[in-house]
Amino acid sequence: MKFKKKILGIGAGYVGAPSMVMIASKCPDYKVTVVDINPERIAAWNSDRLPVYEPGLDAIVRKTRGRNLFFSTDVEAQIQENDIIFVCVNTPTKTFGAGAGMAADLQYWEKTARQILENSKTSKIVIEKSTLPIKTAQAMERILSSGKKNVTFDVLSNPEFMAEGTAVNDLENPDRVLIGSRETKSGLAARAALVEIYTRWLPREKIITSNIWSAELSKLVANAFLAQRVSSINSISALCEKADADISEVAHAVGTDSRIGAKFLKAGIGFGGSCFKKDILNLVYLCRFYGLPEVAAYWESVVRINEYQQDRFIANILRSMFNTLAGKKICVLGFAFKADTGDTRESPAIHITRKLLAEHAEVVISDPQALANAAADLAHEKGKISYVEDPYRAAAGCHALAVMTDWEAYRKLDYRKIYKSMVKPAFLFDGRNIVDHRKCFEIGFNVFPIGKPALTRF
Ligand code: NAD
Ligand code: UGA
Repeated sequence: MKFKKKILGIGAGYVGAPSMVMIASKCPDYKVTVVDINPERIAAWNSDRLPVYEPGLDAIVRKTRGRNLFFSTDVEAQIQENDIIFVCVNTPTKTFGAGAGMAADLQYWEKTARQILENSKTSKIVIEKSTLPIKTAQAMERILSSGKKNVTFDVLSNPEFMAEGTAVNDLENPDRVLIGSRETKSGLAARAALVEIYTRWLPREKIITSNIWSAELSKLVANAFLAQRVSSINSISALCEKADADISEVAHAVGTDSRIGAKFLKAGIGFGGSCFKKDILNLVYLCRFYGLPEVAAYWESVVRINEYQQDRFIANILRSMFNTLAGKKICVLGFAFKADTGDTRESPAIHITRKLLAEHAEVVISDPQALANAAADLAHEKGKISYVEDPYRAAAGCHALAVMTDWEAYRKLDYRKIYKSMVKPAFLFDGRNIVDHRKCFEIGFNVFPIGKPALTRF
């Protein structure tokens, strides 16, 4: 079959693969290829057991794979073959040298830019889909323009706003798609080519176009604003616990103001995931770099409150369980950073489990999708840890339950049955406020929600 366009995604991770899968699904006349340097990841994308758990994704992959969607490890050959390239490689926080712990590590990004330059025999549109510091496109342009004169590159910024667990819906029906470009003749033509792809399934009004630096910065700012809302409500949850107010009631009363809005006001044990912390720290670094220490301090406090919320949760467990956890068995219900994903990157459960182990507690971890990742995260921890998928078996014989992930299934567990199997007095620390607290108290638990009065018999 002759395809109308040939599109390449570099980086078959949580964002690269689903976004390319969506293009393949919506544009059957385009050939879409996804490459990665990790052969196991590519083998998994070509198998029946995909490397990421994302509701609804399997069905679309089954429909498109081998038809107009292909996964490959041959990065160089695919760069030669494709003229539209989405770069979706990871951009983690730097762990070494200048900016360590703050700035984005751009080594994977730069390697890709050089590979594109080395393997391009025809002109290409190169699209930043990864989240990057402002002005990265300029660095990309400089690398790409250091080569042969007859091959040209247009760099666009097209940051991705999907969230894990809802990726399919977010990609199919996004609030908006953002495309930043140079305002030159060829920049505008490249932008039009990308608009043409998205308008295959989205109305033109949903596509925002801007200058390239605004697009890069908007992605960091969107994540910073979302994380800021979570930290704002979590900070107030601490006050609620002191003053007998109820954070759900406060969030409802505040969020019904249409200027504020109801979303992202769920108090909990803090935000996790690979991006919020990384992107805010990147923003903080950029503010310092541009000589704006006050702005940097403002955004850094969003991360500090997130850490405070996790430490508060642990301190509460310790205090409520008579100041000693040594030898006690704690069941961690949920290890993923949010429901409907197996991803555990920056999950609050990692930090909290480490603290429990430091107190010499025995930890039993349960999760429907994230146990393999949990075991990898905790591989080097000392202490007693076990992994049990079935929540009833995991809780049996434990002194306490700590709910870490808002899996829908955890709302509906038979807590009476669980209570009967636990050591008494039994404790329930609901880090996500998803359990029926009154009912569990009546069953016999001592219940400690977030931002609400505890229900205890002591
Ligand atoms: P990821 O680690 O899951 O995937 C990145 C992939 O890129 C890895 O499989 C890695 O092997 C591959 N890779 C690295 N260098 C490569 C190279 N030179 N050639 C080919 N492949 C290479 O990361 P992710 O979660 O998909 O995030 C990717 C980017 O997207 C990040 O910048 C992130 O901030 C951004 N983002 C992520 C999400 C999300 O929900 N995870 C959402 C929006 C934006
Ligand atoms: C987030 C953004 O929502 C996406 O728009 C963005 O594209 C993505 O980051 C990214 O750049 O990687 P994601 O991290 O997958 O998506 O998931 P979210 O739904 O945003 O949740 C992030 C964290 O905040 C989770 O740990 C979640 O439990 C927590 N959260 C969220 C709360 O504690 N309370 C809330 O009200 C909302």
